[in-house]
Amino acid sequence: MTEPQKPVELLSAQRIAARLHILAEEINQFYQNKEVLLVSILDGAIIFTADLLRLLKVPTRLDCLRISSYGNSTTPESAPRITGSLKSDLNGKHVLLVDDILDTGNTMKQATEEVTALHPDTVRTCVFLDKPDNRTNGFQADWVGFSIPNEFVVGYGLDYAGRYRELPYLAKLLVSEPD
Ligand code: IMP
Ligand code: MG
Repeated sequence: MTEPQKPVELLSAQRIAARLHILAEEINQFYQNKEVLLVSILDGAIIFTADLLRLLKVPTRLDCLRISSYGNSTTPESAPRITGSLKSDLNGKHVLLVDDILDTGNTMKQATEEVTALHPDTVRTCVFLDKPDNRTNGFQADWVGFSIPNEFVVGYGLDYAGRYRELPYLAKLLVSEPD
């Protein structure tokens, strides 16, 4: 297995914050006079959700789904597994699914199906990052922070083998081949 090296910054904390303000404003406009139930897809969306939530001016509630598709690698090892479920009654709710990144689209497709089966009023999706080149199912999010090329990224909640989530910026990892 190759070992990751130094993270190289792709998006600064300032750029992320500026973009989130614009995104939140659009979401505030869209949900005027409605209460929103944010459903955060753990673990990756935790930082994005926390920042977005604090910029929303509409009334909100928060719930979490835990879905995992990556083990210790940079490519999906299996179909996404749902390992934690919602505590809320979704009947009559306006659900906003929040994830860190839309890659193949499998996670969001599965999460959307899961949530829709619980009969909310509406379901919308918001992702911090979109890697459109890697999509296998045509899934499109309603709100996207940044579109990025098809390379593995870490930081701002995203991990490699459980690490680097704490970086306040988005980075790519330079991977060195063993000698
Ligand atoms: P998808 O199911 O292929 O769309 O992948 C979505 C999930 O894979 C995200 O929620 C992330 O947890 C993870 N993922 C996809 N690409 C990356 C990446 O570049 N870095 C870290 N995690 C990623
Ligand atoms: Mg994830």
